[in-house]
Amino acid sequence: MKKPKIILGIETSCDETAAAVVQKDQSGVKILSNVVATSIDIQTKYGGIVPEQAAREQIASIIPVIDEAIKQARCTPDNIDAIAVTEGPGLIGSLLVGVETAKSLSLVWQKPLVPINHLTGHFYANWINSGEQNSPTFPSIGLLISGGHTDLVLFKGHGKYEYLGGTRDDAAGECFDKCARLLGLPYPGGSAISKLAEEGDPKAFKLPRPMLDSKDFDFSFSGLKTAVLNLVQELTSNNRLLTISHKQNLSASIQEAIADVLSEKTIAAAQYNHVEHIMVAGGVAANKVISTKIKQLASEKLEKATVLIPPPKLCTDNGAYIAAAAFYNFHPIDPLKLQANPNLSLNQ
Ligand code: KG4
Ligand code: ZN
Repeated sequence: MKKPKIILGIETSCDETAAAVVQKDQSGVKILSNVVATSIDIQTKYGGIVPEQAAREQIASIIPVIDEAIKQARCTPDNIDAIAVTEGPGLIGSLLVGVETAKSLSLVWQKPLVPINHLTGHFYANWINSGEQNSPTFPSIGLLISGGHTDLVLFKGHGKYEYLGGTRDDAAGECFDKCARLLGLPYPGGSAISKLAEEGDPKAFKLPRPMLDSKDFDFSFSGLKTAVLNLVQELTSNNRLLTISHKQNLSASIQEAIADVLSEKTIAAAQYNHVEHIMVAGGVAANKVISTKIKQLASEKLEKATVLIPPPKLCTDNGAYIAAAAFYNFHPIDPLKLQANPNLSLNQ
């Protein structure tokens, strides 16, 4: 099969319906279009994701989003060499919409179909617009920080990685989201907390750094959430309300605690494995304090550190990194055999 030059990437693992047309040539991977429709406004009303509602929104959006991606890329289905789709993990109702649509398009347009694990896919945002010369190299430590996952892996090549550790309870993004809810902030909480934190003092509240000294590469964030709950209960006892400065200081303190744990563990994983390259991926990687802290600690503790973090827009869910991943993991399968798998992980 000849190497693809243009891939349509489809991503519907959660509450975003996303499609992108991505090109790869000798100068690297470039986005021709990247369309994301989100049902966040609807989910915000409920303070979190309602899976049935998210799936219903996926069905309504999938065809218009794919149409728009093809239109914005100024191409037609004829120009597309392959279709890549998130096969999992995620919400089964949402995943099915993308997978079944991709299967149908693959059969009707007669294009190869490439299934992509959403979690490895996130890392390929680091290959986009990097230019072939500055694209990530192996071995590399990968830190995935998203709404549902916090994992450290050692990448040895495309599709070749060793699982080093991950969260034993809440993911980093989940911790942001749950703490935001305790502060009365809208879903998704990560961006709301980071905004408020800009005006807050990260040392105002003493919060735990769970498992910081655990000598392994696992994480735990549920204790941090409980500590925030206790603080909020104390601050609001006797019918008092949280003031804006409480919220700013709590936000800054929460963000700092999460950033400390993520950066320390990532650099420790790099040192332990004698690896100088680090790739960060996932929605939480859009957080400036976290990315700065990882870069700072890497330059302090590693000799020739390179830390790659995608621009914020490519950190959160989109179809572009799914297409990018497919260029480097081009293993098409029979469309009739592809099944959405909500339980895929990096630890297999
Ligand atoms: O990767 P992603 O878009 O979706 C999943 O695959 O889960 O990640 C979503 C997560 C949410 O928990 C959201 O609160 C968090 O990323 N997030 C952030 C920021 N932007 C999004 N967390 C911290 N700081 C941000 N700026
Ligand atoms: Zn994601």
